[in-house]
Amino acid sequence: MARLSWAARLYIGAVVLVAAVLLIRGPFGDIRWWRSVAVLGLLLVVFESTATLLRPRQLAWSPNSSATLAAVVLLGPVGAGLVGACTIFGMRRGPSLAQRLFNTGMMALSAYLAGQVFVAMHGQVGIPNSGTFPTVIGPFAVAAVVHVVTNHALLAGVLWLTSDRDVAGRRAPLGMSVKLIASDLGYGAFGLLIAALWSVTGVFAPVLVLIPLFVARWAVAQIAEQQQAYEATVGALCQAVETKDLYTRGHSDRVSRGSVMIAREIGMRAERVEAIRYAGMLHDVGKLGVPTRVLQKTGKLTEEEYAAIQLHPMRGLDIVREIGFLDEALAGIMHHHERIDGRGYPVGLAGEEIPEFARVLAVADAFDAMTSTRSYRGARRIDEAIAELRKWSGTQFDPALVDAFVAAIKREGWPRPEPPEPPVLAADDPTAIIVQDDDEPGAPLRVTDSL
Ligand SMILES: [Fe+2]
Repeated sequence: MARLSWAARLYIGAVVLVAAVLLIRGPFGDIRWWRSVAVLGLLLVVFESTATLLRPRQLAWSPNSSATLAAVVLLGPVGAGLVGACTIFGMRRGPSLAQRLFNTGMMALSAYLAGQVFVAMHGQVGIPNSGTFPTVIGPFAVAAVVHVVTNHALLAGVLWLTSDRDVAGRRAPLGMSVKLIASDLGYGAFGLLIAALWSVTGVFAPVLVLIPLFVARWAVAQIAEQQQAYEATVGALCQAVETKDLYTRGHSDRVSRGSVMIAREIGMRAERVEAIRYAGMLHDVGKLGVPTRVLQKTGKLTEEEYAAIQLHPMRGLDIVREIGFLDEALAGIMHHHERIDGRGYPVGLAGEEIPEFARVLAVADAFDAMTSTRSYRGARRIDEAIAELRKWSGTQFDPALVDAFVAAIKREGWPRPEPPEPPVLAADDPTAIIVQDDDEPGAPLRVTDSL
C-alpha cells in the first residue's frame, strides 16, 4: 500500500466493504448451490491466474466475466458476487495485497450488481430450460453491460486516485479501454452459453465451453510473446550499433522502412517483406565487431582501418547467423555492400548473383546515408539523392529496384531524419578532414586482400 494515497486506500476499503456487506447478507442456497459456486469460482481462479499482462504494465486482462455472468443466471446476485470474490485466490504473480483486495471487491461488487439487474429485469435465476429462451437474453445482455461498465468504472476510479505519477501514467489509453470493454462483453456472452449447457452437462459446462477458447487464447499469446522477443532482440542489437556509431542514429530503422517500401513495390510476399524488415534493421550489426575508435574517427582512415570497416558484413553474419527467424535476412546482411558491376565487397558478386535482399538493402542504405546529416556535410535533398541513385543505377544498384524505390518514395514520401549532435572537434585539428561514409554511393573502394 506504500505507493497508494489515502484517498485510494479509502476507495479500495469502501469497495471491499460494500461488496462484503452485500454478500454476507445472503441468501445462500443448498449444497448443490455451493458446489456450483465452487466450480465457477475455480474457473475464475484459473482465468485470473493466467491473465494476460497488458502495456502499460500493472494492468491485466482475463475473461473472468464469463464465469461471473454464468453465475448471474445460475445462482443469482449473491452467488455471482461470491464467484467474483474468488478473485482473491488468483495465483498470478505481481499484484500487491491492495491490488488483490481491490480486484476481489471490484469483481464481487460488479457481479452482484449485474445479478440484481438480471433479477430486476425478470431474468429467471436457475438452470435454464427450453422455456427460458429467448426471454432470458434481454435481461442477460443488460446484466452483462452493467457488470462490465461497473468493473471498468471502479477500475478507472482507483487509477484516478493513485497518487504515484508513474502508476497514474499507466492508465489504459481510451482505445485500449474500448477494446477491453468489447472483449469483456464478448467473453461475458459465453456465460449464458455455460448456463444453458449446465442442464445437460452439469458442472462440466465451463470446461466444454471455455477450455477450447482458453487454449486458443494461450496459443495466440505465445505467438505474440515470441514476436515481442524477436523485436526486442533486434531492437537491442540496433541500439548497440547506434551507440557505437553516433552518426547512424535511426539509420537502421529508416533502412528497414525503405527496404520494406521497395519489397512491397516489387510485390514480395508478406513473409519475405517481414524478413527484409529485420534485415534492414540489422544490416550493419557487424559494426559491433569494428573498433569504436575506427567508427567514430573523424580523420582519414588508414588501410587497416578501412579493412576493418569492410569486414562488417561478415562480422554481422557471424553475430546473427544463429538467430533462427532471420532466414533470408542473413544473405542480405552479408552482401549489402556488393555492387551490380561486381566491384563491391565482401565477395565481389555481380548482377543477379547478389541475393535480392542485399540488392534491396543497398538502395535503401545508400539513400538514407545521403539524406541524413553526416559529420562532413549536411543532409542532401530528396531529389538530389534520387538523382544520385539514378546516376549509379546499373553500376552500383539494381536499376529495377531503384525505379521501385523512387516510385514508392513519390507515393509515400520519406521521413526527414533529425540531425545528430556533431562531435566536438578542435578548431585547429589537422585531422578534422572527414572521411566519406562507406554507405554513400561512389564511396572509395578499398577491398583488401585480407578478405
Ligand atoms: Fe553497411
